[in-house]
Amino acid sequence: MSLVGARWKRAARGTLIAGAVFALAPAVSWGAGDTQAGLDVFAGQCAECHSMKEGKNKKGPSLFAVVGRKAAAIADFKYSDAMKSSGYTWTPEQIDAYVTAPKKAVPGGTMKYDGLPDAKARADLIAYLASVK
Ligand code: HEC
Repeated sequence: MSLVGARWKRAARGTLIAGAVFALAPAVSWGAGDTQAGLDVFAGQCAECHSMKEGKNKKGPSLFAVVGRKAAAIADFKYSDAMKSSGYTWTPEQIDAYVTAPKKAVPGGTMKYDGLPDAKARADLIAYLASVK
C-alpha cells in the first residue's frame, strides 16, 4: 500500500469537507476538523512561537480564544504595523487564509512562517484553536 497515496487521499478528502463547510455554512462554526489531530498540528507547527494559555505570549501572541478575536488585540504584545492595520477578525476562514500564506494575507507582517499547504491539517488545526476558549 502506498503511504503517500493514502495521505494524499486524506488531504483531498479534507479539502472536500472544508469546501463543503465553506459552501454550506460560511458563518457558522468550523466543524470539519479533528481537534485531537489539530493539537498535533499546533504542537508541530505553531507551539514554537504560540501558547494557547491566556496571557502567555512567546515569539507570537497567545492564541487563547483566538477564533472570533480581532487581529492585534493582545495589549502587551508588540504587533507589526501591518497586523495592526489589517482590520481582520479571526474567523475560521480568515485564520485559514493567514495560515495558508501568512506573507500574502498580511504583507509586511512579522510572523516568520511559510504557510501550511495541507487543507486537512489546517481544518484540524482550526478545530483545535476553536476548542480553546
Ligand atoms: C516563528 C514564529 C511563529 C510561528 C511558527 C507561527 N507564528 Fe503565528 N505569529 C507569530 C508572530 C510574530 C505574530 C505577530 C505577527 C505580526 O504582528 O505581524 C503571529 C501572529 C499570529 C496570529 C494573529 C494573532 C493576533 O492576535 O492577531 C495568528 C492567528 C497566528 N499567528 C496563528 C499561527 C498559527 C495557527 C501557527 C501555526 C500554523 C503560527 N501562527 C505559527 C509568530 C509565529
